[in-house]
Amino acid sequence: MHSRNRASFLHKLGYAARHPGRISSYTRRWARDTWLRMTTGDHVGYYRAVMRSDSARNPEQAVGSASHDRWLALGKMQYDYLLGHGLLPSHRLLEIGCGNLRAGWRFIDYLEPGHYYGIDISPDILFAAQNVLQRYGLQHKLPHLTPVRNLSFSFLPKGHFDVVHAHSVFSHSPIEVIDECLSHVGPVLTPGGFFDFTFDRTTGPEHQVLREDFYYRTETLTALARRHGLRARFMRDWEKLPHKQSKIRVTHS
Ligand SMILES: C[S@@+](CC[C@H](N)C(=O)[O-])C[C@H]1O[C@@H](n2cnc3c(N)ncnc32)[C@H](O)[C@@H]1O
Repeated sequence: MHSRNRASFLHKLGYAARHPGRISSYTRRWARDTWLRMTTGDHVGYYRAVMRSDSARNPEQAVGSASHDRWLALGKMQYDYLLGHGLLPSHRLLEIGCGNLRAGWRFIDYLEPGHYYGIDISPDILFAAQNVLQRYGLQHKLPHLTPVRNLSFSFLPKGHFDVVHAHSVFSHSPIEVIDECLSHVGPVLTPGGFFDFTFDRTTGPEHQVLREDFYYRTETLTALARRHGLRARFMRDWEKLPHKQSKIRVTHS
């Protein structure tokens, strides 16, 4: 399954034959994305426009959950995993691409006030995040929810975050965005801190679909982290969970 090339014509043909009901929604998405690519600048501008369009329809679907139950389950999976890996209420957590707080609301509830920092390129999904915060009555936890233009973290303090977390963000990112993140994440981590990110893994050729979904080989991302002086580890225990993406943990080397 991990060797499949979703960008290939043969794959698309086979997929269409197996799922004829999805052809019209794919065609609509293709047309919308083509228009957005032509009318926006770089990848971040393009993806911000995708999120604006998707969030206007349904914020939970915009972050990739087909139903509210899946939204709850995917958030809980991320939360349980980090608690199992030692996240404490006193820790400071930076969530990159926090979306509408699918996992974030649980972290906010668990951490001490002010210890959660969520950033996202999409102001629209951050508006939806404010609704979620209100729905769960978490205003008193004073989380930071901040729109960003890039992943340089230049407005954040050095050595501050025990945990940096990015779920289903690099699966929507070209390699230059991942490179930017890995080149700047080290300084904001505490000396013993770690950065966990998920990615869509392929064992075949790396490829992308509609500039929305990007598939990488593990070695590409671990080598990139090493080039920035970081140690990268493939998280085997994450593979046991019911989730299609894989996870890498990055630490100071
Ligand atoms: C699939 S959603 C996942 C949201 C959240 N991590 C979760 O698990 O619910 C991806 C999120 O990442 C954001 N995003 C995509 N590229 C980003 C980037 N380069 N920097 C920050 N956020 C980004 C999107 O706007 C979107 O909210």
